[in-house]
Amino acid sequence: MRQALTVNHISAAYGKADVLSDVNITIEPGRITCLLGANGAGKSTLIKVLLGLLKPHTGEIFFEGENITGLQPHEIIGRGIACIPEGRRIFPKMTVEENLYMGAYQEPSNEKIREKMLEVYTLFPRLQERRAQLAGTMSGGEQAMVSIGRGLMHSPQLLIIDEPSLGLSPALVSDNFRIIRRICEAGTSVFLVEQNVRQTLAISSYGYVLSQGRIVAHGEARALRDDVAVKEAYFG
Ligand SMILES: Nc1ncnc2c1ncn2[C@@H]1O[C@H](COP(=O)(O)OP(=O)(O)OP(=O)(O)O)[C@@H](O)[C@H]1O
Ligand SMILES: [Mg+2]
Repeated sequence: MRQALTVNHISAAYGKADVLSDVNITIEPGRITCLLGANGAGKSTLIKVLLGLLKPHTGEIFFEGENITGLQPHEIIGRGIACIPEGRRIFPKMTVEENLYMGAYQEPSNEKIREKMLEVYTLFPRLQERRAQLAGTMSGGEQAMVSIGRGLMHSPQLLIIDEPSLGLSPALVSDNFRIIRRICEAGTSVFLVEQNVRQTLAISSYGYVLSQGRIVAHGEARALRDDVAVKEAYFG
């Protein structure tokens, strides 16, 4: 099968502290691939490496067959990778609509921007209702919608999402995960980084488990649900 993104033998560190050791991951197109791991496992660090924000000391990353290791973050984003960072970093003093515009800063055509905006509003009618509200005054769940919507504004081939369920009620997690699934069904590959094991495996096709910087288990999401290594990675 064609691969959207492959991570080959990536190791990375902050100064002398090793955080990722020989990580190998394949993200197939048109599916949700998840990365599960407890606090401090190295999940966000791997995302930094994928986006070119942290240089790995070994290993390579290929996106749609091309080696993107060592490219600048804006070049990587320009190739069609979008990331919704941890903690939903929205622009609180801008309106919902202005936040969405910020996601399309690389798109020169106003017509395309309007088209994307309509798509986002179709996925999230709540955002359309509140388009003129300052994003910082939206509820936590609504802010999560703003950040997902912003990530979709530049029509990425691959959307990386770092812990979208953090701090949300179970009902809102379900809503947002349903939307992530629809995004994938509409043709965007998704790399979903999470700690919420049960709900994440329920919407993913394939999963990896990261523990102390190493992949300790991987497989079809259905099989991972019963995997001992998954439980150990969380409960020691
Ligand atoms: N800029 C940094 N400088 C030094 N150490 C860092 C830095 N960022 C992260 N770390 C360390 O690297 C390790 C992995 O952190 P990372 O943020 O990748 O974990 P995570 O799996 O995303 O955790 P969480 O689920 O809590 O977000 C942690 O021990 C963290 O303290
Ligand atoms: Mg993190």
